[in-house]
Amino acid sequence: MIILGITGASGVIYGKRICEELVRYKKDVGLIVTEHAKDVLCHELKLKYYSKDEIFSSEIGNKIKEFSISDMKAPLASGSFKTEGMVIAPSSINSLASIAGGICNNLLLRSAQVTLKERRKLILVPRESPLGTIQLRNLLTLSEAGALIVPPCPAFYYNPETIEDIINFTVSRVLNLLGIENNLITPWGEKI
Ligand SMILES: Cc1cc2nc3c(=O)[nH]c(=O)nc-3n(C[C@H](O)[C@H](O)[C@H](O)COP(=O)(O)O)c2cc1C
Repeated sequence: MIILGITGASGVIYGKRICEELVRYKKDVGLIVTEHAKDVLCHELKLKYYSKDEIFSSEIGNKIKEFSISDMKAPLASGSFKTEGMVIAPSSINSLASIAGGICNNLLLRSAQVTLKERRKLILVPRESPLGTIQLRNLLTLSEAGALIVPPCPAFYYNPETIEDIINFTVSRVLNLLGIENNLITPWGEKI
């Protein structure tokens, strides 16, 4: 299983798209959504209310296992439950600061801490601009602890034409870091 956390930063579309691609590549996905992310999901994806079924088509949604953010008895809360790693996309400054500080008072934070202590892959897609000194220090702390930091910064050398193209750049980078080769964008050096 790959754990996919969605927190209350702008850019929840990244979490949605990464989830969809992981399912497409036949990965088991364990989804954790923070309470603030539910508000941002409703706002940015124009949902009437939060529900996994409102976000994903039934084909995708049926293959995703969602865990409650308050469920500390979930298997993900223990290192004895083996996972292939965790992605948090988008990652709020609040959640990344909590992880950098070792705080584990919800299932998303606990799962991230377990992922780091078990030396599994933790990929964060932090969304904030500009980044201040405190946020940069926290990102450095996380990087030193083994996390991979993937800010959603699109490149333009592959000539994106749509917002989807721009989103796919970051989605593709995250998939690559998980070892999933994909054709979401044309890599530099190949004919565009
Ligand atoms: C519409 C909206 C957009 C937000 N965008 C961001 C953002 O881009 N980055 C961020 O760190 N926080 C953002 N926030 C604030 C977070 O939601 C807030 O700090 C919250 O405490 C995060 O909690 P969580 O980490 O448990 O999801 C946004 C809030 C709202 C309502």
